[in-house]
Amino acid sequence: MKTYQTGIIEDKTSSAIFMLFKLTGSGKLSDTLAKLSNKIDGSSAVAGFGNKLMKFFPKVNAYQQHKFNSPLLDNESGCDVAIWLKNNDKGKLFHQATEFRNILSDSFELQNVVSAYSYREKFDLSDFEDGIENPEGDAMLPVAISEDGSSFWVLQQWLHDFNWLSNSSQHAKEMCIGRSMDDSHQFADLPPSAHVKKSAKENFEPEAELLRKSMPWSDDKLNGGLMFSSFGHSFRAFNLQMSSMLGIDDGIIDGVFKFSKIMNTNYLWCPPMSNGVLDLSLLEMGK
Ligand code: HEM
Repeated sequence: MKTYQTGIIEDKTSSAIFMLFKLTGSGKLSDTLAKLSNKIDGSSAVAGFGNKLMKFFPKVNAYQQHKFNSPLLDNESGCDVAIWLKNNDKGKLFHQATEFRNILSDSFELQNVVSAYSYREKFDLSDFEDGIENPEGDAMLPVAISEDGSSFWVLQQWLHDFNWLSNSSQHAKEMCIGRSMDDSHQFADLPPSAHVKKSAKENFEPEAELLRKSMPWSDDKLNGGLMFSSFGHSFRAFNLQMSSMLGIDDGIIDGVFKFSKIMNTNYLWCPPMSNGVLDLSLLEMGK
């Protein structure tokens, strides 16, 4: 197996920055990506490529297929490069972020910066514990990383309705997710729209499993929500779970939509690592 970007598997930090870039021109692309590749250590900085940039990686078949299988209509609007900067020190994150903006500036424009962090260690801002059913330990690698060391990353920004959350009863909120807000246990009797029912991996054959590394986010206008972030050895599990959440087959919409909505979705391919740098051997220019 080739080596992979270890930050995908490693613990989340208490603060992080997600940087989303758009491709502005391909004239200097190989040089820009070579510079990026040298700076990405795969641990404190995880990089994913998407959308227009993936046209230069035509051999990554699982990526090229995603458009046909995605249940989301806006899947073409994703960014071309995403960088997940992980550090507990916000000042270091800031300096790292400006460095990456400079490194990419010949070919990419920075479109969006999302500040993310931990809340009550592992909670979503809706006050539910997140990540309980995640694979752990040795089980993470086969779920999140393909045999060639790459990974298929979905980064989806959700905006929460905090008015709804503060005006609704605990019971109403618990029925959206299906777990208790007091001790996180899963309720036995749940409506079919409960999030844990709609997304459970066992609903699908073979099972649809993901490694979720989502983080709360907010901005300086006090908008906030969840930066949903999942890694898989393909996009299959995400697309199946998302279709189920949208009620594509049964018309039953996931309870999460009662208090949150999708702002943007980024389908990304995380290249493997090779000799300590991003492996760009599948890059094909001039096509
Ligand atoms: C606002 C958006 C979302 C919120 C607040 C949210 C929150 C939660 C919470 C609180 C749980 C229960 C604890 C746990 O097992 O982690 C959970 C479970 C889960 N979520 Fe989400 N989630 C969101 C979006 C998504 C999306 C987009 C997907 C995939 C397409 C997803 C997939 C899952 C899966 C697979 C589980 C485990 C279900 C089980 O087997 O019990 N979630 N989520």
